[in-house]
Amino acid sequence: MNRRNAIKNFGLGAGATMVSPTNFAVKSTRSKKSILKIAHITDIHIRPEENAPERFLKCIKEVKNHNIDFFLNGGDTIYAADYDNISRERVNEQWGIWNELRSRFKEFEVFSCLGNHDMWWAAPNKNDSMYGKGYAVEQLGIKNRFYSFSRKGWHFVVLDSNNENAGSLDEEQRKWLEKDLDSLNKDTPVVVLSHYPILGVCTIIDGGNHTDSKYITDLFYKHSDKKFHCLSGHVHLLDSAVYNNAHYYCNGAVSGFWWEKGDANSAQKYWYRETPPGYAILELMEDGTLINTYHTY
Ligand SMILES: [Fe+2]
Ligand SMILES: [Fe+2]
Repeated sequence: MNRRNAIKNFGLGAGATMVSPTNFAVKSTRSKKSILKIAHITDIHIRPEENAPERFLKCIKEVKNHNIDFFLNGGDTIYAADYDNISRERVNEQWGIWNELRSRFKEFEVFSCLGNHDMWWAAPNKNDSMYGKGYAVEQLGIKNRFYSFSRKGWHFVVLDSNNENAGSLDEEQRKWLEKDLDSLNKDTPVVVLSHYPILGVCTIIDGGNHTDSKYITDLFYKHSDKKFHCLSGHVHLLDSAVYNNAHYYCNGAVSGFWWEKGDANSAQKYWYRETPPGYAILELMEDGTLINTYHTY
């Protein structure tokens, strides 16, 4: 093999193609490096009916093909514990299924937030070990109803939207969030996970927006030296919005139409309106930008 052929073969072996101005352009976009890959799953609403457990496992199998680092779970993990007529047995049945399914992908960390359907308010009294948020926090294996952590220079804030005037932060959480953001260095990229959208487009059609968006967006604006990427669910619809340079993504629902076939507004079987059942894959880039892609399964 002469030298020219050797060079050619090396190039092909390395997956490279011939150098041309076009390829230089491709190379420059590729210099933006992805440093974390995360799955955002939300509104799983797990239940024994509708073959939901098996359909959820199919979703997880597909998520695994994306070679993700970990999961963010946006709440409404179980179908519903919050209604007045829900029994202790029914609550346990739903969390039991969740924990069994969770054991099937235990090699991954899952950082969850609370959804409005996760809490059992109909317990006989407030001292009951299964009453309210404490039990949901325990079942989800999270350290608190709100918390934060950091990975590879990115900061993650997990909020509890389930307070007075549904879709809001309580005073204790506001103080904590202000302190948490103050502790970050300039330019830190921040992913904020909440159940209700902090700001949404689909919420104009369907409701379910945070009622204290003004307070939260003002707080983010005070921290304009950071890059905010906010993820939510609750509405079961897919949208994205940008306000004051902060990005907001409402990422549909794993369960689509709560695993059911849908209604007259469903564009297709199992969809909620125009959104199919699905999950989002987030690519976190080293320059603090994020690519959010929704996948149906
Ligand atoms: Fe939901
Ligand atoms: Fe919800």
